[in-house]
Amino acid sequence: MKQMALSILVNPTGSHAASWLHPGTQADASTDIGYYRRMAQLAERGKFDLFFIADTPAARTTNLEAWSRFPMFMNVFEPITLLAALAGATRHIGLGGTASTSFHEPYNIARQFASLDHLTHGRAAWNVVTSANDFAARNFGLDKLPPHALRYDRAREFVGVVQALWDTWDDDAFVEDRVSGHYFDPARQHTLHHEGKFFRVHGALNVARSPQGHPVIIQAGASDTGKDFAAETAEVVFSSDSTLEGSKRFHDDLKSRMAKFGRAPEALKVLAGKPILIAESAQQAEDQYQALQELIHPDVGRMRLGTDLETDLSDLPVDEPIPEGRIPKTSNQHKMYFDHIVHMIRVEKLTLQQLYMRYERGNKTLKGTALQVADQLEEWFTGGACDGFMLMFNLMPTGLADFVEKVVPILQHRGLFRQEYSGATLRDHLGLARPANRHAVAAKAAAARAAAARAAAE
Ligand SMILES: Cc1cc2nc3c(=O)[nH]c(=O)nc-3n(C[C@H](O)[C@H](O)[C@H](O)COP(=O)(O)O)c2cc1C
Repeated sequence: MKQMALSILVNPTGSHAASWLHPGTQADASTDIGYYRRMAQLAERGKFDLFFIADTPAARTTNLEAWSRFPMFMNVFEPITLLAALAGATRHIGLGGTASTSFHEPYNIARQFASLDHLTHGRAAWNVVTSANDFAARNFGLDKLPPHALRYDRAREFVGVVQALWDTWDDDAFVEDRVSGHYFDPARQHTLHHEGKFFRVHGALNVARSPQGHPVIIQAGASDTGKDFAAETAEVVFSSDSTLEGSKRFHDDLKSRMAKFGRAPEALKVLAGKPILIAESAQQAEDQYQALQELIHPDVGRMRLGTDLETDLSDLPVDEPIPEGRIPKTSNQHKMYFDHIVHMIRVEKLTLQQLYMRYERGNKTLKGTALQVADQLEEWFTGGACDGFMLMFNLMPTGLADFVEKVVPILQHRGLFRQEYSGATLRDHLGLARPANRHAVAAKAAAARAAAARAAAE
């Protein structure tokens, strides 16, 4: 029986905007390494595939009064550093993090993730994002983000260079032969000569090919360009649609795009984003959720909505609808979120407060008892909406603990989720093949051609 993949997107106090205000969360969790260790170990006890850290490389610098009430990304560890610190605290669970193609050089990323893959014995994953944040752009010599299409052009070239660098060395290049006196075999190094639109790289990576060959590539593009990019390069994609039908459409659309890049549908796993709130009864879950919603300060509501609508809403009254004239003509950031809000404004005609109370960035919290949560996950999974889930918990650590204790056993009992890890690497967990080194593949093909030519000549 096919089994689902489970990943957690770690928000230190929880995925809910007001989670840090809740007495059950740890307010200073975001820079407490002991806390992260415990969370990673808890997810590993639950046999999760992946422990995932999202990121944007900037603290906000404006509207600080509102941001001070919703401190997301204002005080967080750099993901690769954090994941490296978790390597020794865990043994099985995959460790994934975000790094932006708009603000790095491919060499750095190739080296960092190859190193992380070695440190974790094959459990590393890189979430490739183009970033959607002008605050980040201003930290890297830009006034604002380059246009969406240009960011994706750069991302495509960036990933190509990173993957080529990961193939610098044949798997067996480091012979460490004290008899011949060769530490590595010079014939098994492959220098990259890349001259592209965005990058010039003539060189070789100074770290051996890593346990997974290539760390797992994650993506979450939702635009047409983003989906094509994912179909071409990604091995895990995070989707966010609140309906089973919408998720299934996204899943099928994405997988149908893969053929034109010569890829099989199994080479990519779609994980549906799901915020979770578990309680003893459905009513209790609803009550807890409403109590959390009530904690959202109006300034935070305006600010979060305004961020995704790409316009400042701070002067608008919360008890009236957003005027049509305040809707920007186009989006340059998260198109999907933008379109969703515009749809809510135009079709549902809600007041600003109703809007921010309802808007969940494309996701809808799955609330209920452990059994209800397990039932819904099963329905989505068996209904073909996804290959697994990117779970977020409204409140941490209680949300994750409840899930591991109460939902995982139900899924295991139904045969929908693993009882034990059966492989060593993240690729093993996800059922993804280890990519062969392109130079080894080419050499093998050349040898086969030469042998065929010899045989024909005889
Ligand atoms: C589960 C999930 C995690 C994401 N993590 C990040 C992140 O860490 N950093 C980031 O800049 N964007 C992140 N994104 C946003 C996506 O990378 C992407 O920009 C967004 O889905 C919009 O797609 P588009 O750029 O193709 O329009 C995430 C999206 C999802 C659904």
